[in-house]
Amino acid sequence: MSTPTGTLTLESLSSENTFAMAQALGRLILRPCRLALSGDLGAGKTLFVQGFARGLGVPENVYVTSPSYALIHAYTARLPLYHADLYRLGHMEEVLDIGLPDLMASESVTVVEWAERMEDTEIFDIRIHIEIHGETTRKLHAQAYGLHFQDLLRSWQQVCPPA
Ligand SMILES: Nc1ncnc2c1ncn2[C@@H]1O[C@H](COP(=O)(O)OP(=O)(O)O)[C@@H](O)[C@H]1O
Ligand SMILES: [Mg+2]
Repeated sequence: MSTPTGTLTLESLSSENTFAMAQALGRLILRPCRLALSGDLGAGKTLFVQGFARGLGVPENVYVTSPSYALIHAYTARLPLYHADLYRLGHMEEVLDIGLPDLMASESVTVVEWAERMEDTEIFDIRIHIEIHGETTRKLHAQAYGLHFQDLLRSWQQVCPPA
């Protein structure tokens, strides 16, 4: 795996905290981005996407739910948002069946839970690993690739709601 150009670790003390942090990141997104989320079941990956989606402009009345069975959900926001969850991926071809590589190459924002199940994991601009610390505490380890996304992490740190 290539070396990130920027890293950031954030501590979350509650679900609301993680949601607000993710929303703050979503608000900063102005151009296409590929975001990988990793962490154990129940770490808060889907919750993170829910906050991120709001920040990116998915309206309040649109529910953002886990795409674990459909593998991918699409939303209309400031940029098209695709939310994939590869936990139930049976075969690598399914990644192609749902058109993920094409979507990731398009002018969109793609967030992938269990991205480590993809063959090509070098494609991501930002990776966030959510580590479970206690029942309601999490550590978010973010890595950025390239100058633009490194700057984005810095901006995120500045606007991130305190734990
Ligand atoms: N600090 C926290 N950050 C994120 N989730 C938290 C936190 N504390 C408790 N939780 C709970 O953990 C669960 C995370 O679920 P989910 O987002 O579906 O996880 P994943 O998608 O990683 O399997 C939710 O029930 C959420 O309320
Ligand atoms: Mg999930």
